[in-house]
Formats: sequence, structure tokens, C-alpha cells
Amino acid sequence: MNIPEFTAIKKTGRKISMLTAYDFPTAKLVDAAGIDGILVGDSLAMVVQGRENTLPVTLEQMAYHTEMVVRAAKNAVVIADLPFPGGHQHWTRTLEDCAKILKDTGCHGVKIESSAAQAPVIERLTNAGIPVLAHLGLLPQRIQQLGKYTLQRQKETLLNDAHAVENAGAFAVLLECVQHDLAGEISESLAVPTIGIGSGPRCDGQILVLHDILGMSGYVPKHARQYAQLAEQISQAVNDYKADVESGGFPTKNR
Ligand code: KIV
Repeated sequence: MNIPEFTAIKKTGRKISMLTAYDFPTAKLVDAAGIDGILVGDSLAMVVQGRENTLPVTLEQMAYHTEMVVRAAKNAVVIADLPFPGGHQHWTRTLEDCAKILKDTGCHGVKIESSAAQAPVIERLTNAGIPVLAHLGLLPQRIQQLGKYTLQRQKETLLNDAHAVENAGAFAVLLECVQHDLAGEISESLAVPTIGIGSGPRCDGQILVLHDILGMSGYVPKHARQYAQLAEQISQAVNDYKADVESGGFPTKNR
């Protein structure tokens, strides 16, 4: 799939599926399942690196993980997150950072935590041939300012932000933790698709963090659903292996 094909899914009425992935083996499984888009999110700071929030992850680390995911994905579009301070640098620096990610990894586009204030930067990037997924609503890169992750309800601001980033050329808009009716209203008023996380069923698509749906995050955010309990299975497997090694059951006896 390419970016225009991804955007065009909205017209068909089919809901768009996205998940995060951060490495080759999991991205391969996600892609093989037919997921439309894979985000190499800066959430990797929390779910892979064990950090408190998304702020510490670097551009080099994003590129390192994105390259693995791109090699694994045969169908899905792969989008890399632009890490903090994202689109808040001078536009020439943002352009260089995004171009580096596209060149070094072969990914399809970048995600930028945005508001109407980033529209001029998004326009520059789009004009340069860099597809942008604009992230609106709850912006985790602002956590030090926000204090906590809460539902976003500012109707006029968010509608204005959504139209500004669409007009600037964003190929889709990610809505994080936006009040559900408002997310529905935004989705219906945009030509490009909205991808929701914690923003209700009226978005054009949904995205979740892979580790949350697999039961590997240690907790399940309110907006997520756990489809497997891999943490328990991994612990069980490791405990069984340890017991077998200690008892001599491995490698001498077959199960
Ligand atoms: O970084 C990330 O994984 C994200 C998702 C929560 C959408 O931005």
C-alpha cells in the first residue's frame, strides 16, 4: 500500500486498522495480518526502553527501529514518529530530520504532534514530498506541561486544528483521546481519514499500541483492549525452561 491508497480507504467506507510496532519480528506478524498502517511510535520510549514518558527517545533511535519495521512490512504503510521537540524546531531543521528518516529507513511518512501552529511546517514538508500524519488532541510530548493524560474536549480549537493541518496537506489525522462526539464531528468534516486512539467509534480508523493489545505493557489503558496475555505466557515459558535446566530435564529429555 502507498500513502494515496491509504488515504483513499476513507472513500470506500472501510475502517482503517493501524498498530504500532518497533522491531522486525513483530512488524512482520502485524503486516502479515493485513493491518493497513504500522506506526513506529515514540511510545517505544515507554514500551521498549522502559522510560517514564516519550520525551527521551532520539531521532537516531526512531530511525534504528523504523528501518527494521520497514524491512518487515510488505503491505502496510510505515509511519515514523518525529520525536520531541518534533515540529517545534525551525522548519528547515524539521525538514532535514524528516528527510533523514525517510532516506535512512525507507518509511512512507512521518507523524508529527501538531496543532494549527504546525500547519506552515506541514505545508513545507508536504511540498517537499514528505507525507505527514498530523497528531491532534492529547499530545504526549507535552506531558510535562499537561501533568497527566486526559480527554480533550476543546471543540473550536480542535476543529480549527484539524482543518488547518488538512489544508496544509496532512494525508491523515490521528486523534488521541478526543471526546467521542467531537472526534466524530471532526471525522465527518474532513476529506482525509481520522485515525482514533481513545476517541470513539466514529473515527475513520483505529490505532492501538501493540504491547497493550498483547498484554505486555503491565497495564491496559482505558481505551485499549487486551487480545492476548503474552506477559503471562512468556513468564511461564521462562520459568519452565529454568526449571528444566535446573532439574536436568533440558537438554537431556524431550518434552
Ligand atoms: O507513539 C505512539 O505510539 C502514538 C500512539 C499512541 C498513537 O502516538
